[in-house]
Amino acid sequence: MELREAITTRRSVRKYKSDPIPEQTVKELLELAAWAPSGMNTQPWLYVVIEGKDYLKDLSDKCKAYLLDIMEELPALQIYRTSLSNPDNNIFYGAPSLVLIYGNQNAFTYPNDCSMAALNLMLAAWERGIGSCWIGFARAFCGTPEFKEELKVPPEYQLVATVILGYPAGPPVKGSRKDIKVSFHRK
Ligand SMILES: Cc1cc2nc3c(=O)[nH]c(=O)nc-3n(C[C@H](O)[C@H](O)[C@H](O)COP(=O)(O)O)c2cc1C
Repeated sequence: MELREAITTRRSVRKYKSDPIPEQTVKELLELAAWAPSGMNTQPWLYVVIEGKDYLKDLSDKCKAYLLDIMEELPALQIYRTSLSNPDNNIFYGAPSLVLIYGNQNAFTYPNDCSMAALNLMLAAWERGIGSCWIGFARAFCGTPEFKEELKVPPEYQLVATVILGYPAGPPVKGSRKDIKVSFHRK
């Protein structure tokens, strides 16, 4: 797949087959993700991969409950109250793998670095026919000190990206983009 095709046909996938992704494939994708640029080449990412249908469903429930708890402090979330309250709503869409990308906060540019690694991951996955979706709903709970401790993530690492991976259960939806806003200045 040409890079242009990968960039323009990658879509957030929200329906997955239950087939697991081989561990070796996940590792290869994470190696590719790590070719992202990073400030001063600090490569501050730490990956945690969570797998297992029940584990992910349980985590989805915890993420939803956590968001409902903090909703008063985050008015922008109010529009999701109904869907987050729905017990059938799995925020991970039944994907077999969830990749959490934590960044070492001692690296000044860690949010940028880890976000670029996440996009590399998504494009590399897509090139192999593996779908992905960044799940922002997972960030609050998976970033808590308690959850990090459970995963043995050192305290100096902050959660940046939460990306599900899996084999798409259907054809990709068509994407659309706004016209870009750009100005050139030359002298
Ligand atoms: C930071 C971030 C958070 C996101 N959170 C969610 C989410 O919680 N659930 C979801 O279904 N999609 C989520 N998305 C996916 C976006 O909705 C999606 O990228 C956007 O609609 C553009 O569609 P495309 O990825 O198919 O091009 C998120 C994307 C980003 C970059």
